[in-house]
Amino acid sequence: MPIVPTQEILARAFRDRYGVAAINVINDLSMEAVLAAAEELRAPVIVQTSVKHVQMTGIDATYAMWVAYASKASVPAALHLDHCPDRKVISDCLARGWNSVLFDASRLSVEENQRQCIEVVEEARRYGALVEGEIEGFKRTEEMTGGEAEDVQSLETVVRFVGATGVDVFAPAIGNAHGTYRTAPRLDAGRVTDIVAATGKPVALHGGTGMSAGQFADLISRGCAKVNISTALKVAYLSAGFDYLTAHPGEFDPPKVFAAQRAAVKDMAERHIRMFGSEGRAWQ
Ligand code: 13P
Repeated sequence: MPIVPTQEILARAFRDRYGVAAINVINDLSMEAVLAAAEELRAPVIVQTSVKHVQMTGIDATYAMWVAYASKASVPAALHLDHCPDRKVISDCLARGWNSVLFDASRLSVEENQRQCIEVVEEARRYGALVEGEIEGFKRTEEMTGGEAEDVQSLETVVRFVGATGVDVFAPAIGNAHGTYRTAPRLDAGRVTDIVAATGKPVALHGGTGMSAGQFADLISRGCAKVNISTALKVAYLSAGFDYLTAHPGEFDPPKVFAAQRAAVKDMAERHIRMFGSEGRAWQ
């Protein structure tokens, strides 16, 4: 049971309108802590890897770690490759066993993105893997200008892209961004409703760190079945290490620092799982 297709995890969440936490991990400790949080709350979960961290650790080591931890879990879990513009990394991860990938060709024209995305979907299908697509790209929070509404594509373009490529989930720009929001983000929730109604597919919510419980609940009820969290994990992990060392000057005992970091990451993951309504949603 533990490792299940991302399609199955998202289909149930989309149908029953809860959000699955899709949390970017950075190493073995954070991967184990996220899975432990899901296990404790009986929640399905998506563990995300960024291209940077896959390359830092290596595909084989990352996957071996995943199998070692996830095969012990008793809740549904899937491994996802986040924002990847590199076709070779996508191919390598799919061949190795990742359950899903986000092909991020948002820097290309929509036409070229669509052409390549069709190939990625075809490749992923051979492995039973899911593909997430995007055409708008996400800013970092520090780059937000307030004029983001002008950067989005029309609903017609989104529908054409989703239909032509067959992507399973679409990641729209709705005023969200990666990083730490300086002020509460103003999100175009209506765009989620329109995209879900027009495509019949779930939406992936990016830039989750710093959104409010009310924003999550509203967006999830509209069809955001996959909710991405990355910055919150980095902050929890690194701050816990810093705080521990600051509170224990001169004590350089790695297991104690790691225990504090694990607890902080697990707590962060549990907080988000609860907010997304996926607690208790694991199935047998
Ligand atoms: P945050 O870093 O803002 O949580 O965004 C996560 C994300 O969308 C990863 O793709």
